[in-house]
Amino acid sequence: STKLTIGLFGFGVVGQGLNDIIRTKDLNLEIKKIAIKNPEKKRSLPEELFTTDASVILNDPEINTIVELINDADAAYSIVKAALKSGKNVVSANKKMVATHLEEFLHIQEQYGTSLLYEGAVCGSIPIIRNLEEYYDNELLYSIRGIFNGSSNYILSKTFTENLDYATALKQAQDLGFAETDPILDVGGFDAKYKLVIAASHAYGVLPNPDDVFNIGIQNLSSKDIQYAKEKNYKIKLVPTALEFGERQVVLYVLPKMIKADDFLFNVENEYNGVIVQAAFADQQFFFGKGAGGHPTGSAVLSDITALRYEYKYEYKKYRSNKGFILSNDYQLNV
Ligand code: HSE
Repeated sequence: STKLTIGLFGFGVVGQGLNDIIRTKDLNLEIKKIAIKNPEKKRSLPEELFTTDASVILNDPEINTIVELINDADAAYSIVKAALKSGKNVVSANKKMVATHLEEFLHIQEQYGTSLLYEGAVCGSIPIIRNLEEYYDNELLYSIRGIFNGSSNYILSKTFTENLDYATALKQAQDLGFAETDPILDVGGFDAKYKLVIAASHAYGVLPNPDDVFNIGIQNLSSKDIQYAKEKNYKIKLVPTALEFGERQVVLYVLPKMIKADDFLFNVENEYNGVIVQAAFADQQFFFGKGAGGHPTGSAVLSDITALRYEYKYEYKKYRSNKGFILSNDYQLNV
């Protein structure tokens, strides 16, 4: 198979995780250059691998694959757009960036014949996007719900099982590399919302603007809420949901929910994520795995890189076929 020559943007938790993984095996791929923001930081790799100039990577004809793992969604947007337009395929794990520009990226990919993959952007190691994209094409999907944010779930787990206070639990999630640089994205339900928007686009063909999707996070839960849940033998989980609503509508929202012991999500703890897909004839299916962290997310990124070798593209089948589900313009929030 063709050798992949990679230009990597970002060398944070996920970038380093990916680097660890690809060094364990001969995968016929090479990271030729890594673009970073701060050249002063000490790095585990030779200095000549790094650059602070994005154009060094984007203008290198030998680099055929861009892996975008930076923090800043606006900068990521420019990089990914330029790369796709210059004929390079892209793997990204930036959920905010993907969710915000999904429709435009869909058209750019069509126009330029390039491919943008982002399995690592949604639920870390869980292969949920490709399952929604490919497997459920002929199924009636009632709903997709789950735990999509490792940091919030980590905090909730620690609060419930170890009686840790919120600030200490958040600090731990940050130290372990699960949290976003601005943790309000995690605890406010925004990160879960971006992931939900991406999942729903592959499942239902809706391309809602994330700003139109309702989210409440866990940051305002009180000790009373937690006490109440404990008394009832419930747990509280932050649950993004996409739900068929009537015949032609899909509703999306992110809310903290009381979860009963017989729910698959009840035992999803710490940085683990879970996705329950409910389909008409298959009934419930449950996907479970690590949702955050360098190695789990890096493994999803590697899976996308490998898929590019075989020229894999998302086809957004439902978007194209428009099987009776509403598109973004008609999208209506109804919680
Ligand atoms: N901050 C994210 C989380 C990282 O906690 O789930 C993985 O996308």
